[in-house]
Amino acid sequence: MESDQIRLRPIGRIHSPHRDPHKTPIQPVWARGIAGRVEVFETFAPGLEDLEGFSHIHLLYYFDRADGECLRVTPYLEDRERGVFATRAPSRPNRIGLSLVRLIAREGRILHVEDLDVLDGTPLLDIKPVIARCDLREDVRSGWQDAIDEKRATRRGRRQEPC
Ligand SMILES: C[S@@+](CC[C@H](N)C(=O)[O-])C[C@H]1O[C@@H](n2cnc3c(N)ncnc32)[C@H](O)[C@@H]1O
Repeated sequence: MESDQIRLRPIGRIHSPHRDPHKTPIQPVWARGIAGRVEVFETFAPGLEDLEGFSHIHLLYYFDRADGECLRVTPYLEDRERGVFATRAPSRPNRIGLSLVRLIAREGRILHVEDLDVLDGTPLLDIKPVIARCDLREDVRSGWQDAIDEKRATRRGRRQEPC
């Protein structure tokens, strides 16, 4: 590809109860049961066919309220800087978010989902089904995250203590 610019079109919008980024859980695993809707625009609705059989989906979206772009960030779970690509922070060069959420039901072009860590109104870029044989791994190392105590991760992840 010649150009260094890529144009993307939102395919929909994510509706969630989250209005304040500082009170929004940090990952779906700490947002269990938080319900919302994924609205897919009419033009893209035929692409939802056959999605009902999947219990979980990946949402890819645009962090439209991220502050700037940083290559070194202080992650939510720690108090020291890390390279942005070793974190899931929103202030990244292409501002792409990825959340693995539970698909509860589909009503036409509306997907009812749970476990949302996404702000209300976030532009949706793509949806992919979670496929057990492709996505699950047993030998995962989680880098600097492995050193973080589970209790602390849970408290910060749920925004029960300041990050
Ligand atoms: C650490 S990020 C992780 C998001 C996603 N699960 C990921 O791994 O890409 C989660 C935080 O992003 C922030 N956030 C959510 N939606 C956003 C949006 N549309 N724009 C900017 N920040 C957002 C919230 O503060 C939330 O707590």
